[in-house]
Amino acid sequence: MPIAIRPLHPVFAGEVSGVDCTKPLARDEVAAIEAGMDKYAVLVFRDQDLSDAQQIAFTRHFGELESYHLPGHIQKDPDKRLGPGMADFSNLDKDGNIISAEDRVWFFKLGDRLWHSDSSFRPVPAKYSLLSGRVLPSWGANTEFADMRAAYDALDERAKAEVEPLVCLHSLIYSREAIGFTELSDEERAAFRPIRQRLVRTHPVTGRKSLFLAAHAGAIEGWTIPEARMFLRDLTEHATQREFVYSHQWRLNDLVMWDNRQTMHRARRFDDRNEVRDVRRTTLGGDAATIEQV
Ligand SMILES: [Fe+2]
Repeated sequence: MPIAIRPLHPVFAGEVSGVDCTKPLARDEVAAIEAGMDKYAVLVFRDQDLSDAQQIAFTRHFGELESYHLPGHIQKDPDKRLGPGMADFSNLDKDGNIISAEDRVWFFKLGDRLWHSDSSFRPVPAKYSLLSGRVLPSWGANTEFADMRAAYDALDERAKAEVEPLVCLHSLIYSREAIGFTELSDEERAAFRPIRQRLVRTHPVTGRKSLFLAAHAGAIEGWTIPEARMFLRDLTEHATQREFVYSHQWRLNDLVMWDNRQTMHRARRFDDRNEVRDVRRTTLGGDAATIEQV
């Protein structure tokens, strides 16, 4: 069956048919999916009953995995439920029990419910993320995506000129502080030191510009913190208007793939004290920094 993509939203996001993600892809299939990503920025593959190894193999068709050992979480390796290459976005601990609501790892995970782009706090931010829905709760837990190209296009000319030269500082410290989680060790603070990112980035294939926003952005170079936070909040509100947002309602064994260079996303609430949500992510490292670190 040939690959086909059906739009899921007026401005972006598509549902792919004709691909079995458990099997190796032919070169023309990879090219068709990459072209789909360039156009839609979010692709949904239904009924993909993947093992972790199959998810990793599928992901590697599109580039190299982001290094597993870069700082990006407060959870230590021995406490992780999943093996190398898999990021755990469940509400489970290592033993498969629902994680305590008092656990600081849970506080940290809650930050994923703020709008963000994966790994914007790294010098080379992530390219694609792929999230596999293995166990889903009975309600809630949508993943929402915002098209940052559409958000950029909708700015007026004055605003486009204003954002063009700006450089933001991104850190996990800022996004966790936003929900009142500030109890980080000196070692964690050092690992999460702020990273420079351009606010406007250009897609390497399509040449389309987009706003590179995230809850991780907590400062703008040359601006005071209150001015910067207020401006970033306004821009985020603009960028996440409903007309730019696709809300993905999960079905079992969905695989959702998004381009972090062109979108933001956030997780939504569910009954995380009584129901299990087991979703697992693989992540592709980016191919370029948006700006040098100094
Ligand atoms: Fe994320």
